[in-house]
Amino acid sequence: MKFILVSILIIFFALIVAAICKINELKNIKYSQPQFLTDKKILTIYYSNGGNTKNVAQNLHSIVGGDIKEIELEEKYPNNIFKMSKLVRKQIKEGNLPKINNIDISNYDVIFVGSPIWNFSPSLPMKSFIINNNFENKTLIPFFTYSGGADKTKTINGIKEAAKTKDIKQPLFMFENGIFLVKEQLIKWLNNI
Ligand SMILES: Cc1cc2nc3c(=O)[nH]c(=O)nc-3n(C[C@H](O)[C@H](O)[C@H](O)COP(=O)(O)O)c2cc1C
Repeated sequence: MKFILVSILIIFFALIVAAICKINELKNIKYSQPQFLTDKKILTIYYSNGGNTKNVAQNLHSIVGGDIKEIELEEKYPNNIFKMSKLVRKQIKEGNLPKINNIDISNYDVIFVGSPIWNFSPSLPMKSFIINNNFENKTLIPFFTYSGGADKTKTINGIKEAAKTKDIKQPLFMFENGIFLVKEQLIKWLNNI
């Protein structure tokens, strides 16, 4: 019994030390603009149903500059999460993508696209945006917020196939809206792209 208690305490303290180290590492992180963003016209675009992806997108925009735009639906999803999830499942099953606003990306070289993960994949509005636009000769950089799990390989391959461009950078998968140190997590990702 005593041995188990001591082991739990050791694991607990080890986790606290690891968390403090991680926070310190993130707090000390510095941003220097990556080469692929230098002298480029940058657009951050996002779809957000509950606000998490919007928060990450706004933080990203404050770091990389350029313009920011929102993907909006012609017909909003129901506020009730159960009704919404049911409708999303139906749309996935039937292969229906929601109609979204027209967004002109022709003036931009680098496009960050943010979305929540729905059913382990990018949200349907993000899929609509990717399918509706031509990303030839543009750099596409996806970022996602999620709360449990995402099929990262399937997500990346799906976007590559739909966007018809090979210039897709390593996406960011951020737990919910990052909870804290969102900017620092974004900088760490940008520095490593
Ligand atoms: C219809 C629906 C399906 C979801 N499916 C997943 C999922 O498969 N995996 C996951 O980690 N989170 C899932 N989530 C949670 C969202 O990805 C997460 O809360 C995200 O941060 C929401 O972003 P938003 O506030 O910008 O809409 C789902 C949420 C909804 C509404």
